[in-house]
Amino acid sequence: MTNQSPVQAPAGQIWNAQAYAASGRFVATLAADVVALLAPQAGERILDLGCGDGALTEQIAATGALVTGVDNSSAMLAAARERHLHVEQCSIDALPFQQEFDAVFSNAALHWLPAPKHPAALACIHRALLPGGRFVAEMGGQGNIAAIRTALRAVLAPFAIDAEAHSESFYPAPAVYRRMLEAAGFTVQSIDLIPRPTPLPAGPDGADPMATWLNTFRNGVLDRLAPADRTAAIERTVSLLKPILYDRDGNWTADYVRLRFQATK
Ligand code: BEZ
Repeated sequence: MTNQSPVQAPAGQIWNAQAYAASGRFVATLAADVVALLAPQAGERILDLGCGDGALTEQIAATGALVTGVDNSSAMLAAARERHLHVEQCSIDALPFQQEFDAVFSNAALHWLPAPKHPAALACIHRALLPGGRFVAEMGGQGNIAAIRTALRAVLAPFAIDAEAHSESFYPAPAVYRRMLEAAGFTVQSIDLIPRPTPLPAGPDGADPMATWLNTFRNGVLDRLAPADRTAAIERTVSLLKPILYDRDGNWTADYVRLRFQATK
């Protein structure tokens, strides 16, 4: 450690479409169950919240549904536009739509919105749906990536950085999110916590998969460190996690837990 205090860096996760395509593709690949729950039909108008680079939006559009994707990241939207998808830039808690969609869908995006913003987001989603419309989504749930978060929190504490506070993620328990959905006017058909241990892909040029995961998904907090401290912090986090998430066959598994739900307006 070269320095006990964090460098000033802009807070917040930065999305890099190339890095995500190389290291985060599994997020969309593992979404088959939530897409099946959505059951998109030809001609339906569907809003895909947090569409990212459009990998899933494209799959849903292939059913004949008329899909609009929204995301806050211009880099990810540029990648989505290369797939010739209809996408718009906006935040999930400031959607401009009024009774325009048969269904709102979201995969692995809602947990990036801090908890206090969810009531406004759910009100926007409710307003965007036609009466009887459905809201089908999967996000990180209670206990999501608990080992990774705990290790990173321990490693960054000596730098006076609270990794949890800076990641600003929200991984709610089913009862908590059910209440929030109901408070926004939804009727909840199902809401379940689903443990999903997820093998991590190899990093580019043989980089350690867990180090690559941290670089891809925790850059918002790691960028607060000076470069030498950043490298050391990643190494220390990887070594703390090795006895827990690395197996004798040489595979890393991330301790994902999903919250999957279906609700109607
Ligand atoms: C998730 O999908 O739960 C997730 C993905 C990347 C970082 C953190 C959480």
